[in-house]
Amino acid sequence: MTEKKASREIYVFSKYLDEVYRRYGLAGNQEIFTMRFRSYLKRLIEKLKDATFGDLQKYRNANCASNCLPGHSIRCALLAMAIAKELSLKETEITEIGVGALLHDIGKLFIPREILDKPCKLSETEFEVIKNHSEIGFQVLKNQKWLPQPCIKIVHNHHERLDGSGYPNQLSGNQIHRYERIVGVADVFDAMTSKRNYREALSYEFAFQEIIKESPQLLDRQIVFVLGNIIKKYSHLQSEVAEKIETRRERCHYPCVE
Ligand SMILES: [Fe+2]
Repeated sequence: MTEKKASREIYVFSKYLDEVYRRYGLAGNQEIFTMRFRSYLKRLIEKLKDATFGDLQKYRNANCASNCLPGHSIRCALLAMAIAKELSLKETEITEIGVGALLHDIGKLFIPREILDKPCKLSETEFEVIKNHSEIGFQVLKNQKWLPQPCIKIVHNHHERLDGSGYPNQLSGNQIHRYERIVGVADVFDAMTSKRNYREALSYEFAFQEIIKESPQLLDRQIVFVLGNIIKKYSHLQSEVAEKIETRRERCHYPCVE
């Protein structure tokens, strides 16, 4: 995998997403997901299943569209499937998690670009508009019979948090399925480690420290630790991460747009 190939992959995925957006806006019972897109998704999932943390960095450095939706979705799928593999989930489960992660932010296609691409932090009202994306995504996908229900639920619930502070339905604890928790962790980690219009990307170890601190209330602790193991395995940061967890004092907020 090269950065050029990663850029090409992101570009192709963005074109398919554009087509979904265009077809959704057309009148009548037109199928919004073409057969071509469905088989492309299958191939992409197989590719991402075998990808490494090094490939993750290639997708991060790739020259992608301004709101980075396709790049973020691809990286989330790669990360979520890596977590699922580490948890020894079954092949079908890993695939469902990957498909759900690839489509998790599809509702953002329907959020105004001027809000998504705003080059600074969002106002409360704008943030409320962005938060509609998980419900919109669910509405777009809920009648897609070809998609397994768990994938659709990932799209709906990836912003729900264990303490009930998430959205759109303030689910808590066991109401949030394991798949949704996995994609939730991958989503937060990728958002924090990606460059945004209003801030630089955070390092893997810094992002991991933040997630560790938040995880008892918001994110599944076991899944967060699995993510930590993956980071250690690929980045050899074991001692460095452990040290920084103990010593760091500053506070860093989650990015407001994701
Ligand atoms: Fe999202």
